[in-house]
Amino acid sequence: MNGLRARLSHDAAALALGGRSVARALREKNVEILCVGSRGLFWLEPLLEIETSGGWQAFGPVAATDVPTILDAARNGTPHPLFLGNIQDHPFLKAQTRLTFARCGTVDPSSLDAYAHAGGLVGLKHALDVGPAKIIEEIAASGLRGRGGAGFPAAVKWSGAAAAAGDEKFVVCNADEGDSGTYADRMLMEGDPFLLIEGMIIAGIAIAGTKGYVYIRSEYPHAIAAMRRAVENARDHGLLGKSVLGTYHVFDIEIRAGAGSYVCGEETALLESLEGKRGQVRAKPPLPVHCGLFGKPTIINNVLTFAAAPTILAHGGAYYQSFGRGRSRGTMPIQLAGDIRYGGLFETAFGPTLETLVNDIGGGTRSGRPVRAVQVGGPLGAYFPPALFDTPFDYEEFTNRGGLLGHGGIVVFNDTVDMARQARFAMEFCAIESCGKCTPCRIGSVRGMETIDRILKEDDNAGRIALLKDLCDVMKSGSLCALGGFVPYPVLSALEHFPEDFVRRCL
Ligand SMILES: Cc1cc2nc3c(=O)[nH]c(=O)nc-3n(C[C@H](O)[C@H](O)[C@H](O)COP(=O)(O)O)c2cc1C
Ligand code: SF4
Repeated sequence: MNGLRARLSHDAAALALGGRSVARALREKNVEILCVGSRGLFWLEPLLEIETSGGWQAFGPVAATDVPTILDAARNGTPHPLFLGNIQDHPFLKAQTRLTFARCGTVDPSSLDAYAHAGGLVGLKHALDVGPAKIIEEIAASGLRGRGGAGFPAAVKWSGAAAAAGDEKFVVCNADEGDSGTYADRMLMEGDPFLLIEGMIIAGIAIAGTKGYVYIRSEYPHAIAAMRRAVENARDHGLLGKSVLGTYHVFDIEIRAGAGSYVCGEETALLESLEGKRGQVRAKPPLPVHCGLFGKPTIINNVLTFAAAPTILAHGGAYYQSFGRGRSRGTMPIQLAGDIRYGGLFETAFGPTLETLVNDIGGGTRSGRPVRAVQVGGPLGAYFPPALFDTPFDYEEFTNRGGLLGHGGIVVFNDTVDMARQARFAMEFCAIESCGKCTPCRIGSVRGMETIDRILKEDDNAGRIALLKDLCDVMKSGSLCALGGFVPYPVLSALEHFPEDFVRRCL
């Protein structure tokens, strides 16, 4: 078998599905392994690609015991049941528009040379040439909105920090990724970490910030290790440090691990946590762009927001803006999860409907049962029934139908789901994760749980359902941050679309 080369994902999802034992089996056969990130077709992981005379040929999902027959098939060009052909031609990948995830799964994430060779650093070099004002102009022209959840225009944040007075300014990357069914940040940090580093440097130049922090949830040890490795490599090669690519720009990055709290993904709680304090939400104003980390002007953006910047600078804001619809411009890495046949990362221009995403691309449920609901936008997102599957993936369209896009996660539930229990779970989640600062969230979530418990235990619930709606109203309007403020989305959407579940049952 000497001479064969293999590409194998060492993304956490592939490792969880047996990637390590596949790697061992390949080494036993003296196959040279190129470790890459995941392509995001999770039902095919561990995905193995072998270099043959006909190009890279993929096989999946592979077990260690499959390796000998796969190597025979690759060498002799004979059929194999796990053969997938050139993975780039797979319909799940072919239907995508990969701007942010273009390199993920194809390059060695620990090699800056590989990154540069595959088109990396073009955006940064342009940014260094044109300077801060033009960078912000391009970001504004792209229509890029924050991918962390709120969809706030990135250029407004960046120009606010650029204009703010301060002897020191910070660039903070939110990699807390706590939303249920989401993993795009993790995949990017494990599979193409230099893209995030490049995006953060561009942001640093734009606002005259010299120090960046990446706050990564502690549940992501592989992403933390990949980012630390990449930052060291970037320093060694003069991409980070006292002279970015030989220029007068100073920029360095520190990787920080979170401590397992959902609310630390909220930007001001994240800043508190970075400062070494308990992760509690700060009242606004002042906005972080004026008074953020250690009281200095700070921009906080999601991993995917920063990771879009290199493409925008390399190809121009108008290019990025040419994808999408309405005020939702560019591409969104959508994450398909839950009971879905083809779960994985699907990057596309904004616009496909839920029907297309769940049933055409996702293939419906893995269990074969009918879809009853999807939750879009994490634990604080609304539940949509199939009757609303004509909704296009677009910030405003979702808002108009009582939902939110959040970080782009879609979790599919089949007809066995109990929507009253899901509503209770939302309240329970809020009670557990509340930072405790304000009453509607801290106390309201507990009262919400109790009210739903009573609805499930007793008859004649019209009054209690009215009370629950009233409580949601108070939480929505009276909470200091979106944890308490958005919990009404799952609760009210469950009540609206699945009222038949809010009845007494035998427990
Ligand atoms: C409870 C809560 C949790 C959040 N968790 C995250 C998170 O894990 N990652 C993230 O990027 N934004 C999260 N956000 C949104 C951030 O507060 C903030 O809007 C975001 O980091 C800004 O970046 P963006 O403009 O690039 O989206 C959360 C917000 C709330 C209220
Ligand atoms: S809504 Fe909840 S998490 Fe947000 S500040 Fe209030 S208590 Fe804290």
